[in-house]
Amino acid sequence: MGKITIAIDGYSSTGKSTIAKRLAAALGYIYVDTGAMYRAVTLFALNNGFVSEKGALDSAALIDKLSEVNLKFVPNTETGRSDMFLNDENVEQEIRSMRVSGFVSPVAAIKEVREKLVKIQQEMGKDKGIVMDGRDIGTVVFPDAELKLFMTASPETRAARRYKELLEKGEEVTYAEVLKNVEERDRIDSTRTISPLTKAKDAIEFDNSDMGLEEQFERIHEFAKRVIGKH
Ligand code: DC
Repeated sequence: MGKITIAIDGYSSTGKSTIAKRLAAALGYIYVDTGAMYRAVTLFALNNGFVSEKGALDSAALIDKLSEVNLKFVPNTETGRSDMFLNDENVEQEIRSMRVSGFVSPVAAIKEVREKLVKIQQEMGKDKGIVMDGRDIGTVVFPDAELKLFMTASPETRAARRYKELLEKGEEVTYAEVLKNVEERDRIDSTRTISPLTKAKDAIEFDNSDMGLEEQFERIHEFAKRVIGKH
């Protein structure tokens, strides 16, 4: 039985990464969270002062220093997952903060940033046996992926999930702020000129607004095994 490439795209907080991670573990595949990479570049921009106090992003300055951004996924034996490292520093926690979430969409809209990250992602998936989640995996990174999934859920469902996660981490946020961020990112991610978030023609759509992620995982896992059986 051959290995395949599994591309999972969709809006933020649709449970994409939860499902992708479990699927990779169940199949013995590598899991790659491409959102973490865009978040790490955003943290780099924030740490280097490329975002003004008023919140304006200096894209030219970021593009200029892009070659200094070194990204690595390092397996964490405690969590059983991989942590994102930015220039040899573990930034796994920091990249999930609201501060980073607030700036990631404009950073992800920069052509040079996307070109750099897409290249790294294609290299990581060249031997197949990979589950990659993001926004443009089935459309741009791996247009020939054997299995493409497109995850959706209502903005309210997604904001409620994200709000719960942030509270558990001790962040002081309101549900309204989280909902606003989710809606704003949806708007920017799906209307940007380069690689906007769209469902690939051959992707299968899964909506989990009214379904637990556990139940959905079971369905997707069964489906994936059938597709793998054909290769
Ligand atoms: O999946 P996430 O919420 O961690 O992603 C963070 C941001 O990165 C999201 O707002 C859009 C961007 N992104 C992207 O443009 N392309 C990807 N392949 C993955 C994420």
